[in-house]
Amino acid sequence: MKLALSAETYREPDAFKIERQAVWANEWIMFCTTAELSQPGEYFAGELAGFNILLVVDPEGSIVGFHNVCPHRAGVLAWPGQGTLGNLVCKYHGWAFGWDGNLKSARDFGNDEPLCAEHSELKKIRVETWGPLVFVHLGEPAQSLIDSLGGLIAKTESFPVETFSYARRMTRELACNWKTYVDNYLEGYHVQLLHPSLNRALKMSSYKVSVHDDSYCVHECEPSDGSPVAGAWLFRYPNLAINLYPSGMNVERIIPVGHDRTHVVYDYFAFDTSEDNIAQMVAMSNEILDEDQYICEIVQKNLDSGIYEAGPLSPRHEVGLEWFQSKVKNALLS
Ligand code: FES
Ligand SMILES: [Fe+2]
Repeated sequence: MKLALSAETYREPDAFKIERQAVWANEWIMFCTTAELSQPGEYFAGELAGFNILLVVDPEGSIVGFHNVCPHRAGVLAWPGQGTLGNLVCKYHGWAFGWDGNLKSARDFGNDEPLCAEHSELKKIRVETWGPLVFVHLGEPAQSLIDSLGGLIAKTESFPVETFSYARRMTRELACNWKTYVDNYLEGYHVQLLHPSLNRALKMSSYKVSVHDDSYCVHECEPSDGSPVAGAWLFRYPNLAINLYPSGMNVERIIPVGHDRTHVVYDYFAFDTSEDNIAQMVAMSNEILDEDQYICEIVQKNLDSGIYEAGPLSPRHEVGLEWFQSKVKNALLS
């Protein structure tokens, strides 16, 4: 019998410290969309698992990435959020950097001696895109983004993704560890008990989760009214869910902002980006997310309580968790 990851992995700050390197700095992770980074000078700055990241479009039109950390005294090159930068100048004391991340001038520093590389270069981050999704890799990638996505790309090709436009982002903060929410995402075992409207729409006896290429999961289920399956529900390790339909998609990310807090971020893309259509897409995910948030925060309290250690995983319904948790376990041990 396979057991779940131990409860301490979900509650200990030390486990999250290890995961920051072993998981989050060791994978291609989606960070934003090309809608935010289409013109020279446009930037997007934000946090990912405690790393402060800045992506900006250079004058040649390429997206370049840096840790948003100045080598002088850890100031930032851009405030969090999105906007436009004319150049890379630290907000704290005004050191100026080129688009390659090298120091151009240390404003009024009072010493003409050249500074060593460690003190004069922004730390670079690798950036690659897949369609409208922008990914970063905070370490040394063993594969390009496209190679690492593997068979997941083919799973999206029967949908007219190129006809969808970016419409909206929704972010919600949950009081739980990121893995508590991912575990919940990776099984349909709870649908009949916690998601009444989803349960009515789906023929739950046909619900199936399968793992492919050791890198992504597919959820499949027939609609309850006998109509053909209309969508594809894909999950890529460690935190990216792509929910595809013929008329649009929502791309969901599960992002730790600490060991006990998680952001769930949805990016909505659709053929029809009218307010009514997008509001309907958002309302549908809000309803399901309300139900999932409620149970995940209760489960987290129980994981924190010291009463539970690690329970058995269902071979029928929890193969996705087994795969995800074994990847996390291997990352923590490596
Ligand atoms: S921290 Fe950036 S110039 Fe001082
Ligand atoms: Fe759920």
